[in-house]
Amino acid sequence: MQACERKNCVRNGGAFVKNVFFTLRDTYNKLYKSGFRQEYSKMKEKKRRGRGIRRAVIAVMAVAVLTAMYARYVEPHMLLQKETEYTSAKLVSSGEDGLTAVIFADTHFSEYYTPQDFEKAVEKINRAKADYIFFLGDLIDDYSSYTGDVGRIEELLASLHAGIGKYAVYGNHDYGGQMEFDYPDVMEAGGFQLLVNESAAPDDQNVTVTGIDDMLIGYGDPSSARALNPQNFNIVLCHEPDVIDEMTDYPVDLMLSGHTHGRQVNLMFFDDYILPPYGKKYIKGSYRRMRTDGNEACLYVTGGIGMTKIPMRFASPPEINIITLKGI
Ligand SMILES: [Fe+2]
Repeated sequence: MQACERKNCVRNGGAFVKNVFFTLRDTYNKLYKSGFRQEYSKMKEKKRRGRGIRRAVIAVMAVAVLTAMYARYVEPHMLLQKETEYTSAKLVSSGEDGLTAVIFADTHFSEYYTPQDFEKAVEKINRAKADYIFFLGDLIDDYSSYTGDVGRIEELLASLHAGIGKYAVYGNHDYGGQMEFDYPDVMEAGGFQLLVNESAAPDDQNVTVTGIDDMLIGYGDPSSARALNPQNFNIVLCHEPDVIDEMTDYPVDLMLSGHTHGRQVNLMFFDDYILPPYGKKYIKGSYRRMRTDGNEACLYVTGGIGMTKIPMRFASPPEINIITLKGI
């Protein structure tokens, strides 16, 4: 009787295991058919895509960090030397080699651009053996908070050599605080003649240099060029380049400007935010503008040397510019 019960028990146990096996198999088949596999593949795809996005974000961040490091530590220490030539029948007496003018602007001395940095520029400018050296404004970034050695800046400016003369104008950063009053002394100590809505006497080659005061904070008066003699080659220095549009009635042959820093951080599509007033139209390099008397006025805008607002330069390295003026 007992053996019979055990037999039944074993038979029942086997049936139970069989039932469990078949139930599991049916469940798996049902799930498989109802898209379990597809769901699993989708999950795997989602995971793979997530990993791809994570890698792309890390790559973008790495590029952004490297670009920022380059803009902060590499490009501000480059110093390009750009050369341009202008010809005019009024310059026939300037000889075969013509006259050489070196322009530099926007040094913005600060803790990020020091007199030691400027030594490199001095060396390059002197190597050009210029007849004229023109400084186009914005010497110190913020004079009221500047803790550097102004005396050293004066020494370096004084060590620049020009055969005919060194001239300067005010920029908007040369106003504000005590700078408005100290700037003339600093430039004089550096051997520069500061031109404030006035002209220097023409030299032997009949070249006249006129300086327009800063237009943003100063007292710029474009009509100071009104009395220029059209027989001379008239160079106008003005910190802000867009002022050329207000000078088309006057016999200006060449205007030289700075102010824009060539955008400084040269990001496309952000000009409205990056570019300063009076520096939104003529940004860097050579331009020509028709005067009302039918002749052309040329404009050259330097990208400058230093930095303002943020201590970075990107796709607009510091530059000095050598301009050759020749007769035709
Ligand atoms: Fe500037």
